[in-house]
Formats: sequence, C-alpha cells, structure tokens
Amino acid sequence: MNKRILITYATRAGSTVEVAAAIGESLAQRGFAVDVIPVKENPNLANYQAVILGSAIRMGNWLPEAVEFVKKNQAHLSQMPTAFFTCHRLNTGDDETSRKAREAYTTIVRQIVTPQAEIFFSGELNHSKLNFVDRTLAKAVEKSTNTPEGDFRDWDKIHGWAQTIFA
Ligand SMILES: Cc1cc2nc3c(=O)[nH]c(=O)nc-3n(C[C@H](O)[C@H](O)[C@H](O)COP(=O)(O)O)c2cc1C
Repeated sequence: MNKRILITYATRAGSTVEVAAAIGESLAQRGFAVDVIPVKENPNLANYQAVILGSAIRMGNWLPEAVEFVKKNQAHLSQMPTAFFTCHRLNTGDDETSRKAREAYTTIVRQIVTPQAEIFFSGELNHSKLNFVDRTLAKAVEKSTNTPEGDFRDWDKIHGWAQTIFA
C-alpha cells in the first residue's frame, strides 16, 4: 500500500501535536506513508491521497489557523477522503448534552467540508505550558466547570481510531 496520508494540526500548548504523531505512528504501522505537519506550514494537499485534520479547542472553537486551512483548501479537501479530530477538555461525557456540545465545536468546519470521519479526544490542560492569558482563562473555566487540570489523553482510543480510519 503506497498511499500517502497527511496529518495536519493546530495546537497552542503542544498536546495536540503529540496526538497527531500518535495517529501517524499507527497509520505508518498499517503501511501508509505519513507526514505530520502543522497547518501553519500550509502543507500542499496535491501530495496526498487522504488528509486527517485536527485542532485543539479554545473558547468553544477550533484554532483560527485550522479553520482558515479548511476554508482555503475547501475545493481540494471536498474531493478527497478527509477526517477530523478535536482535542478538548470540556463536554467529554457520554450523555446527549455533552455530545451535542462537543459536536458544536466543529459545526463551522463541517459546514465547509464534510469529513468521512470525525472524533473527539480528551486533551491535556497543563498550566505550566500556557501563557499568562491562557492560564488565567483556563483557571476561570476550570473553576466554573469543575474541570481539573491534567493530561486526559486516552492513547488506546487515539491509536484505536487510527488503526481503523480509512480502512
Ligand atoms: C484558554 C483555554 C480555553 C479552552 N477552551 C476550551 C473549551 O471551550 N472547550 C473545551 O472542551 N476545551 C477547552 N480548552 C481545553 C483545550 O482544548 C485542551 O486542553 C487541549 O487539549 C489543548 O491542546 P493543545 O495543548 O494542543 O493546545 C481550553 C484550554 C485553554 C487553555
């Protein structure tokens, strides 16, 4: 299998790049050629047969550079297998309210491109990796939602998804 897959991502504090890399490892084990490149580097989609696009959430939204990437590449992305992943800390429950709230994070990008698959991963919130503004905001959100700081990434879930995506 010689298919080349792009995993492109947007991060602020660095945990989403580790998720992107983990997805890349699993896809490489399946025999795909994989590149993991930040959206900020504007990867050229012409080099790939499929794209996985991921972003961290800030204040209810994908990071602006990830949304921009989808807008700018709408025509190309609409013609190839595409999957989205989102790393976040709130609305991680199995109940309907939680599910709808996290799905709303990607409403804007799904209106631009309909992905073949989409998944939401619990992320990491580590105050020591945040700048002053983000740390202040994060503390306020943690207090109002009773959400603790910590690393909640589920590596089995992340690798499990990557082992079946684009099967
Ligand atoms: C300032 C700030 C705002 C955030 N807003 C949300 C939010 O609205 N919803 C949510 O589920 N997670 C929110 N998060 C959690 C992040 O999306 C999560 O920690 C993510 O894993 C961070 O990824 P990164 O390390 O790649 O930046 C917020 C985090 C910070 C620091």
